[in-house]
Amino acid sequence: MNFASDNWAGATPEVMAALGRHNEGFAPGYGSDALTEKVRGMFCEVFERDVEVWFTPTGTASNALGLSAVSRPGGMVLCSAEAHIHNDEWGATEYASGGMKLMPMAHRDGLVLGDALEAMLARYPEGNRLGQLVALSLTNATELGTVYGPDALAALTAPARARGLAVHLDGARFANAVAASGATPAELTWRAGVDFMSFGGTKNGCWAAEAVVVFAPEKLHDVMARRQRAGHTFSKARFVAAQFEAYLSDGNWLAWAGHANAMAERLRAGLRQRETARLGWDNTANEVFAVISAEALDAVRAAGGTAHEWPSETVTPAAGEVLVRLVTSWATTPEDVDRFLKLV
Ligand SMILES: Cc1ncc(COP(=O)(O)O)c(C=O)c1O
Repeated sequence: MNFASDNWAGATPEVMAALGRHNEGFAPGYGSDALTEKVRGMFCEVFERDVEVWFTPTGTASNALGLSAVSRPGGMVLCSAEAHIHNDEWGATEYASGGMKLMPMAHRDGLVLGDALEAMLARYPEGNRLGQLVALSLTNATELGTVYGPDALAALTAPARARGLAVHLDGARFANAVAASGATPAELTWRAGVDFMSFGGTKNGCWAAEAVVVFAPEKLHDVMARRQRAGHTFSKARFVAAQFEAYLSDGNWLAWAGHANAMAERLRAGLRQRETARLGWDNTANEVFAVISAEALDAVRAAGGTAHEWPSETVTPAAGEVLVRLVTSWATTPEDVDRFLKLV
């Protein structure tokens, strides 16, 4: 009954086996090994085109490194007011980019509103003296468990691109977005106007495998130098590559994410049927937001379960109720879900 976060789950047996397998012998350091090149080829297959792949240790590092590589003096990055880069990364992008400013925008359940984007583009026209927009950053799956399909993404990226902004995607839970939407990785990224992304592996079954995946290398500058200066260049890159090899082989990543999403859907379905609980909002990825009684949360915790209380601007629990975030993962079992549902 561990619903605290998907990064509380361990790494999958396939990932752990790959680490053991690739521990044999010697391999060149700093990403010049054959496995790293093989994995770059696997990313190219996944995205149906040539891509650059820069391994990083964390999602925060991917976001900050990627966005710093499109920075300009006084640059501004548009993002959702719920964006992880804005709320949860201690100014990592601002720091790595030499002080770019993040500009939060209104959203519905994590999905940026087109009107809010248009308003920002109008407020900061080209050549104005107030600041220059350099990038749009979107998250998929969003921080609130909702998912953009290809059309919704393109509707936001098109006006941004028309103004010359680079488009970044925070894909800490990209696998969950792909599995939930039924769209292909290509349709959810470069075909929908994304220039570069933070590709997450850790939350979905790796133990430290993240990457900046670049579709438009001409828009990013000095990625290698920036990664090196930030201390994010792995000397034993083969172990990150090993995780991604297991992750991307045989559709594993989508199977694991599909399982996590299915467990979340089981939670949502159970919560919809209960009179003693309700969904905060509906969504389709592996994060469920539910209003339950404080008593039920105590009972879950007393039974050894975990769930974080969550702040929200749109949902106000009544007295004696709490809003909780329930995150499922590749390791969540139907029994975990059913035990939780029984307790609420
Ligand atoms: C949407 C999103 N982006 C980025 C991150 C950052 O990942 P990390 O904790 O690996 O830095 C998280 C982590 O929770 C996240 O939820």
